[in-house]
Amino acid sequence: MDYFNYQGDTLFAEQVALSEIAANYGTPTYVYSKATIERHYHAFADAAAQHPHSLVCYAVKANSNLAVLNILARLGSGFDLVSAGELRRVIAAGGDPAKVVFSGVGKTAEEMHFALQLGIKCFNVESVSELHRLQEVAKSLNKKAPVSLRVNPDIDAKTHPYISTGLKANKFGIDILLAAEIYRDAKQLSHIELVGVDCHIGSQLTETQPFLDALEKLLALITQLRADGIALKHIDIGGGLGVTYDQEQPPQPSDYIKKVVERLKDYPELELIMEPGRAITANAGVLLTKVEFLKPGQEKHFAIVDAAMNDLIRPALYSAWMNIVPVVIQQNLTPQTYDVVGPVCETGDFLGKDRLLAIREGDLLAVRSAGAYGFTMSSNYNSRPRAAEIMVDGARSHLIRAREQWQDLWRGEQLLAD
Ligand code: LLP
Repeated sequence: MDYFNYQGDTLFAEQVALSEIAANYGTPTYVYSKATIERHYHAFADAAAQHPHSLVCYAVKANSNLAVLNILARLGSGFDLVSAGELRRVIAAGGDPAKVVFSGVGKTAEEMHFALQLGIKCFNVESVSELHRLQEVAKSLNKKAPVSLRVNPDIDAKTHPYISTGLKANKFGIDILLAAEIYRDAKQLSHIELVGVDCHIGSQLTETQPFLDALEKLLALITQLRADGIALKHIDIGGGLGVTYDQEQPPQPSDYIKKVVERLKDYPELELIMEPGRAITANAGVLLTKVEFLKPGQEKHFAIVDAAMNDLIRPALYSAWMNIVPVVIQQNLTPQTYDVVGPVCETGDFLGKDRLLAIREGDLLAVRSAGAYGFTMSSNYNSRPRAAEIMVDGARSHLIRAREQWQDLWRGEQLLAD
């Protein structure tokens, strides 16, 4: 459920017409709904609150705008992050480092140093080499590094291969069959404190079962470790819950988390950590774009819009289907089938193919469900300034990131001295 709805013929974000946002801020522009972000956060947090201890650690990579992070921090959210840059964003947005889990396969010594000094909740360690590097860095700081091993439970998440992460063939995590031995070895490391276990099996999952299968494997490991005298404090089930882009019917966050909580009934001492990204922000955002030209052809008609693959790469990269709707419904136009494409010089530059739309040049379109992995994956390809971002809160809209200026395109570049 989100707060993007038609009032009459016009699409609104909460109480603000998207046409008004385009008039005030131009296009292409990302528009987010604060109430939707809050609603989705609560769906996880409230269901998890049935367990004695729980923490939602929002996956920053999905949408890392400071205003988004700040809204979540105010609700008490923690954060899952994968770089020092994301950690700095969390701090700048008022997030609490003590509620941060640090994932990722390639953490540098500098990143570890920085995160340790800030006192983050946990490092989700993905390899033995990383564990040893962390031991060294923690030793140099005379601190103990809180560690969870990210295990790879070898579960097919049944999602797009590029966003499937829990199979043996993926680069992520530590083979679950080797995990117990690595925990035992890690227990001997003087500056490592073993606090948890985690997994993340993939993204945009539309069924609960793979999550529950992974949970079962993690619980079996926890039990085995207990017998070995290693008592973990938390279990982190990762993110990955899917959203509706088209016809998908993923479980509601509350239904999914209720099942997890039910399964954890016999483990009241374990803190439950979740790392949702997409499920919190995807349907809380749209990409607003203007139709520049309609170009009829023999085989295809093209709607050339002012947003492109540099603004929203999911369709080009994953063949992701994202809904494209008119901002103002034109009752008296006959719809036609268009490929909705951008101005970038690549055949792969499309936002949607074969879409039935009743549009004229100059009309506005909204690409739905663009609040996650939209702006964060955008680039300056073709020297296109990145889009503005707007947060709607009730009847008010706030500019939360200014559209890039021309000079931003070459910031840091230099001509040769002679
Ligand atoms: N935790 C870890 C360790 C992750 O790697 C990810 C996402 C998440 C949590 C959050 O997953 P979510 O709840 O958002 O599914 N760019 C792709 C998605 C890549 C996801 C990478 N990892 C897309 O646009 O579909």
